[in-house]
Amino acid sequence: MIIKSPSTQKEFDDYYDLRWRILRSPWNQPKGSEKDDKEQDAIHLMAVEEGKIIGCGRAHFNSDTEAQIRYMAVETEYQNKGVGKAILLELENKVIEKGAKKIVLNARENVIKFYQKNGYKVVKESHTLFGVIKHYLMVKDIE
Ligand SMILES: CC(C)(COP(=O)(O)OP(=O)(O)OC[C@H]1O[C@@H](n2cnc3c(N)ncnc32)[C@H](O)[C@@H]1OP(=O)(O)O)[C@@H](O)C(=O)NCCC(=O)NCCS
Repeated sequence: MIIKSPSTQKEFDDYYDLRWRILRSPWNQPKGSEKDDKEQDAIHLMAVEEGKIIGCGRAHFNSDTEAQIRYMAVETEYQNKGVGKAILLELENKVIEKGAKKIVLNARENVIKFYQKNGYKVVKESHTLFGVIKHYLMVKDIE
């Protein structure tokens, strides 16, 4: 498995498709709902195995020193094999290199443990997505 940024149109198409299939389609959300207005300025990473994109994640900056991670998703049959962790660590490396002193994210309730295992702490309950998915603001301070 390698972790890299998507570069070709095909890679970006597959990257956004994975996001949509894992994070939006199960809640009947339309294509396009997997993107926001920060895509242009964000750091995009994907995990590739034998030419297939099996995981993805994104980071952007909220200020000079605060980065935010969004849209972490791993192909269902590849979950729990270290793919998500590898993407998260690489996103962290990239934002730290660019000056992040703090990383925030909004975690779905069912994956709080995944982020806790990677050094994030729950700050408070944040929003509820699609009326059902509770989210929690989590933070990791960089020394
Ligand atoms: C959440 C997600 C990105 C994690 O990626 P992953 O590749 O499955 O996770 P990893 O295998 O790298 O897990 C790293 C550690 O976190 C744990 N972990 C992963 N997902 C977990 C979960 N849902 N609940 C509890 N622990 C979890 C793993 O057991 C592992 O623990 P270990 O280091 O003690 O062995 C992935 O499971 C996923 O796409 N889930 C569905 C979409 C989603 O909810 N995304 C997050 C939106 S906020």
